Amino acid sequence: MIALALSRILELGATVMEEWPTNQEPPVNAVQLMRLFPIAPRKPSIVERAPFSTYAWGMKGPERFETSRLVLRKPMLADAGAIFIRYASDPEVTRYLGWPGHQSIDDTKAFLTFSDAEWSRWPAGPYLIESRSGHKLLGSTGFGFETPLRAVTGYVLARDAWGNGYATEALTAIVNIAEALGVIRLYALCHPDHPASARVLEKCGFRFEQRLEQFAEFPNLNPGCREACLRYVRGEAAPG
Ligand SMILES: CC(C)(COP(=O)(O)OP(=O)(O)OC[C@H]1O[C@@H](n2cnc3c(N)ncnc32)[C@H](O)[C@@H]1OP(=O)(O)O)[C@@H](O)C(=O)NCCC(=O)NCCS
Repeated sequence: MIALALSRILELGATVMEEWPTNQEPPVNAVQLMRLFPIAPRKPSIVERAPFSTYAWGMKGPERFETSRLVLRKPMLADAGAIFIRYASDPEVTRYLGWPGHQSIDDTKAFLTFSDAEWSRWPAGPYLIESRSGHKLLGSTGFGFETPLRAVTGYVLARDAWGNGYATEALTAIVNIAEALGVIRLYALCHPDHPASARVLEKCGFRFEQRLEQFAEFPNLNPGCREACLRYVRGEAAPG
């Protein structure tokens, strides 16, 4: 079933690639699908917790990264149960996210398959966020690379982890990794009614770039309807 879903995604992605004019920003679904298509081959070498100066074009981001209170690490299949229970199936947590809340553990396993594919095609992919003390799963963040130099980011925390500055700390780590990897445009999309998320972006040095009307579906808020998004950016302005 997962294989079928993935082959459908690849099919859809191919359609998007053919029909999408190169001088326009893709809609969010297209962005998600485009992540499955690498632009350039990469060397498979992996650098873990190395000084930033050792990263270079074609190298991988760290699979594990520590901040003062958090560990960001690449997800593994064994994380499925914790991801599902801690945040992915919680309707309150997923309200403003671009992916549907997980209905069963199979949805979470499909995400992990997607995550592995992202990590093998691009410099980095999704990261889980854990507490350094106790290794409790707190949420996730990471990269959706569109080209080696351009990526979208996001963040989600389990409800009991809100309000402690963890999102700001995790996103700061993502910004640092992005800079080390040479990403020149890192952006995030945020629902206009979600000021807490916008505040996290501002605290991490993102600037508001544009309100995009009828841009993305928020499947847990208003399924089937495209709604406005706010785009926040670090780095270069949008091309064209
Ligand atoms: C949004 C979310 C990531 C914030 O995580 P967090 O760890 O609580 O965020 P932080 O503590 O780092 O920072 C939150 C900031 O927003 C502010 N904030 C919280 N609620 C707010 C509101 N209703 N209006 C304005 N600001 C608000 C906080 O005061 C804080 O700013 P401050 O440090 O200047 O006081 C978390 O609530 C979450 O995971 N929600 C569900 C998933 C989600 O919506 N992700 C974002 C998708 S775009």
